Amino acid sequence: MWLIAAAPLVLGASFPNPTKTRSVTFARDIYPLIERKCVSCHRPGGSAPFSLQTYQQVRRRGDLVGTMVLTRSMPPCYGKSDFGEFCEGGGHFTDEEAVLLQDWLRQGKPEGPERVYDESAAPEWRLGKPDAVVRPLKPGQVDTEGRPYWTVYVIPLEKLKGRRLKAFDVRPLTPLAVRGATLGLARDGLAEVPRGITGYRSGGFLERDAAKLLGTWAPGYRAWQLPRGASMALDRDALVLQVLYQPRGKPEDAQVEVGLYFSTNRGDREPSWLTLQREDFTVPAPGNLIVHESGSLRPGTRVLGVIPEARFYCSSISLTANGREVYHSVRWMPYWPGSFSFAEPVEFPEGAQLDAQWMFDNDIHMGQNEGTRPRPIQSGPRERDEAARIHVLTLGPR
Ligand code: HEC
Repeated sequence: MWLIAAAPLVLGASFPNPTKTRSVTFARDIYPLIERKCVSCHRPGGSAPFSLQTYQQVRRRGDLVGTMVLTRSMPPCYGKSDFGEFCEGGGHFTDEEAVLLQDWLRQGKPEGPERVYDESAAPEWRLGKPDAVVRPLKPGQVDTEGRPYWTVYVIPLEKLKGRRLKAFDVRPLTPLAVRGATLGLARDGLAEVPRGITGYRSGGFLERDAAKLLGTWAPGYRAWQLPRGASMALDRDALVLQVLYQPRGKPEDAQVEVGLYFSTNRGDREPSWLTLQREDFTVPAPGNLIVHESGSLRPGTRVLGVIPEARFYCSSISLTANGREVYHSVRWMPYWPGSFSFAEPVEFPEGAQLDAQWMFDNDIHMGQNEGTRPRPIQSGPRERDEAARIHVLTLGPR
C-alpha cells in the first residue's frame, strides 16, 4: 500500500501529514544503494545516458530517480529467481529501500557528511583480461531510426576452434546502442556465408543459425560464467553472435567485442540445453492465452542458467522446478531481454518436475495493438509471429 500512498510525494505534491522518520542523508543512506544498483550503467562508458555517481548528479534528477525506482522502471532488470540474483547489484530496491529514498526526497535531499564519490568509468572487462577477444569483421553502423532490431554475425573461430569456453562477456563500442546479445556455435556451412561478415537481420532468435547456444549478455546483468568443472567445447568452425541494437537518432559504431575465457581443465564436463517449447498455438484476437509446457530433471542435475524466448504479445514467462521459481520475467520486455545465469548452480539432488508458462496478451489495450485492430497471432519463426521457448542449461549428474 505504501506505493500508492506515497506516489504523489514523489511527483512533487505536498504531503499534509509527514510521518516522523529519522533523518536520511545521501552520503550515509542513499549513496550505497545507488552505487550498488545504478552505477554499473550510470557512469562514463556505461549503458545509461548520464552518470549517477555523485551527490550533485543524483540530486539534480532526484524526483525522476524516485519515480523510476518506485515504479520499478530502474534498474531495467526484469528477471528474478528463488535460487539467486541475476542482476548486478541485486536488482530493484526493496520496499524498505524505496521508503528510505522517499524519506530522503521528502526531507529535501540532504547530502549529510562529506564523502568522496567514486567517479570512475566502467571497467573494460568485468572478469579481467580475456583469453581471446573476437569481433564481427564488418559490423558497420547502427540504424539511426526505427525500432530496436536484431543482427546476426558469423565470426570464424580459426585457431580458437577446439578451445573450451568457461565464460564470456560483451563490450559494445557504443554501450547505449546495444540492449542484448546471444552467443552460439554456428551450424555447419554458415562460416562460408558472406553476409555473416557484415551481419544480417534476424527475427530475434538464433534457432536456425546456432548448432548450440553458449549464453547471453545484457547490460546490468551478471556475465555468463560456468561453474568450476564445466566448460563448453568450441567444436565448430564459427561463432554466431546475435546483437539487439537500439537506434538513437544518429549514426553510431555497431561494433561489439566478445571477451572469451577458456578452461584448460581436462576433467571438465559439457553442460547441455534442455529446451521446453510449444509451436502449435494461436493467441486469439482480442484475447489472452496461457501456454504451458513441462519437462523433468534427472536426480543430481544442476541448472546453470536459462534463456527465455517470446515476442511482443507475451506479458510474462516463468519456469518452476517442483513449484519453486527458477525464473520469472516479472515483466516480459522483448527489447530488454536480460541474461539469466546463476552465480551458484542450482542443485536438484532428487530431480525435479519443470513447468514453464508463457502468458500472452492480445487485448486492445496491449501496446502492440495501438491504433490497429488486434489480429490472431500464431506461433512461428517470423518476427511478427509469437514464440514460447525456454532453454535451460543443465549439468548432468557426475
Ligand atoms: C542496466 C543498465 C541500467 C541500470 C542498472 C540503471 N539504469 Fe537508469 N537508465 C538506463 C538507460 C539505458 C536509460 C535510458 C532510458 C532508455 O533508454 O530507455 C536510463 C534512464 C534513467 C533515468 C531517466 C529516465 C527518463 O525517463 O528520462 C533515470 C532517472 C534513471 N535511469 C535512474 C536509474 C536509477 C535510480 C537506477 C538504480 C536504481 C538505474 N537507473 C539503474 C540504464 C540503467
